[in-house]
Amino acid sequence: MKRIGLLTSGGDCQALNPAMRGVVKSLMFSGEQIEIYGFLNGYQGLIYGNYRMLDVSDFSGILTRGGTILGSSRTPFKTIREPDEKGLDKVESMKHNYFKLNLDCLVILGGNGSHKTANLLREEGLNIVTLPKTIDNDLWGTDMTFGFQSAVDIATNVIDNIHTTADSHGRVFIVEVMGHKVGYLTLNAGMASGADIILIPEIPYDIDKVIEAIEQRKKRGSKFTIIAVAEGAISKKDAKLSKKEYKKKLESSPFPSVSYEIAEEIKKKTGQEVRVTVPGHMQRGGSPCPYDRVFASRLGAEAGKLILKGHYGFMVGYRNREIVKVPLEEVAGKLKKVEPDSSIVKEAKMLGISFGD
Ligand code: F6P
Repeated sequence: MKRIGLLTSGGDCQALNPAMRGVVKSLMFSGEQIEIYGFLNGYQGLIYGNYRMLDVSDFSGILTRGGTILGSSRTPFKTIREPDEKGLDKVESMKHNYFKLNLDCLVILGGNGSHKTANLLREEGLNIVTLPKTIDNDLWGTDMTFGFQSAVDIATNVIDNIHTTADSHGRVFIVEVMGHKVGYLTLNAGMASGADIILIPEIPYDIDKVIEAIEQRKKRGSKFTIIAVAEGAISKKDAKLSKKEYKKKLESSPFPSVSYEIAEEIKKKTGQEVRVTVPGHMQRGGSPCPYDRVFASRLGAEAGKLILKGHYGFMVGYRNREIVKVPLEEVAGKLKKVEPDSSIVKEAKMLGISFGD
């Protein structure tokens, strides 16, 4: 008999449900008896003892369902050691609930912040297995996270649709893609949809280079330009500011996001019409794409295998086309970023894409 807890933490993404289904199905088909405790709304459920006992049948029919049947929330790691408003010690409370239920293992589906807390719980003596979720694909220790490919599909479709209207009106269009710290989503959706300029946090841009790229397109006879901008894109000038100074600048900015600031500068300097489209949370919504359904199911099945073997303290990741187990202490607290001199960036540049650098 295995008593397992499940929780989904942080910003949601597609394929959380297929991943949990994978864990449960693989345990069920192994012949092992299981008891499943689903903690509601991420770590909040574990802290406050909010859970539902689930049956294997709860995991039927959710392969194609976006979101998470357990609900999710953000529980910031930096305040996890601080008592809540009623003085409750959150870490002690999570331990208490885990041990009270006599769990064999807690399966946590999360991104960066969630992995820091997962590793802390491991250090505190809990048996933890994690699965890498996020549309940002920025988790250390895995080449791929589930949710990413589904979000790439959505952002690509948005930019595809923008192409025709940009062409009709001869406009510059900026599409703002999710990703505050890391640009994988913008880079991949931008390349997939033939964006002319791609601006990501890892490669600070010079607005004059962006304008130069627009002017060159005009000279070549193209009347429109598509720019894919990550939420966290930053100019070379701003990249020189300290974190505190930059935060202050953003707080006092008249623009809702960096895309609008870029739009204003392009308008001023080129006189061309510029429009901004922000698909936002649409990128995290809806049904997982087939790739993510398969990928998340595989990771879930492998998590089930680890649980059966009693191998705890790992994230199930994907490296060099193999499913691997990565020690949680290696994953926690590190971001996987786009390397500015990686081959994908070089190849994008060979295709004439400007990064504004
Ligand atoms: O972590 C995934 C992500 O979707 C980021 O790409 C985005 O910047 C952020 O979450 C948005 O967070 P929230 O859902 O809290 O607005």
